[in-house]
Amino acid sequence: MEKIFTSVLLILLFLSPSLAADLTVCVACHNNDQPANPILDGQHAKYIEKQLQDLKKDLRIHAQMQGIAKTLDDKQIVEISKAFAEKAWSNPTPKIDPSIQEEGKNLVRKGNCTRCHGSELEGTYNIPRLAGQRAEYLKTTLLQYKNKERNNFPPMSSMLNRYSEKEIGVMADYISRLAYQE
Ligand code: HEC
Ligand code: HEC
Repeated sequence: MEKIFTSVLLILLFLSPSLAADLTVCVACHNNDQPANPILDGQHAKYIEKQLQDLKKDLRIHAQMQGIAKTLDDKQIVEISKAFAEKAWSNPTPKIDPSIQEEGKNLVRKGNCTRCHGSELEGTYNIPRLAGQRAEYLKTTLLQYKNKERNNFPPMSSMLNRYSEKEIGVMADYISRLAYQE
């Protein structure tokens, strides 16, 4: 009797969806073949967690991701965030583009981005890593901050008021080419 009970318990544990973080759904969109979507592998756990919570609570707007975040409970959010954070960040291969190097560096200096995001824009804890993030995603999300479409951290929006759309494009391209090794 006790044996049967133990087996049933083990089977139930095995079937429990929150037992291990299942990243399969996520990786279908968050992969190297989809340059418009952000890299999650190696991003900081607390930052991922906050974005998923914000999406779940409709504080960050993106219909598909809001829908996905709403399927996750708090425990799953913590586990999934941790699982992505433990993966290695893959640094970009084509690094410096001399034609934007100086301007990119100056634009980052102008906004004092390293003050919060770290001297190599590597981020920490709840501050996202930017170095080597995909250019297309960086540009989109920075423009969304500027236009207040992304409004879950207002200080980023006021900072970007000082940049034109063209400057944001150059800055995104420059940052995406930065490599940082943990
Ligand atoms: C249908 C495609 C799709 C799927 C599936 C998907 N995502 Fe996303 N995800 C996106 C897109 C597109 C964005 C960018 C949203 C934006 O522009 O605000 C995003 C953004 C995010 C962000 C914000 C990242 C950042 O740097 O701010 C997190 C965190 C995230 N997704 C986690 C997940 C997790 C965890 C899963 C699986 C449970 C998942 N996503 C599944 C498309 C997807
Ligand atoms: C005062 C501190 C601070 C400064 C200065 C700052 N940031 Fe941020 N930034 C943050 C924080 C905190 C977040 C995460 C917001 C959240 O938790 O939702 C963020 C988010 C971002 C994101 C979103 C990343 C992602 O994966 O979606 C980008 C891109 C970004 N910052 C770029 C910049 C750039 C470029 C500069 C300089 C022009 C800059 N930041 C200056 C604190 C700062």
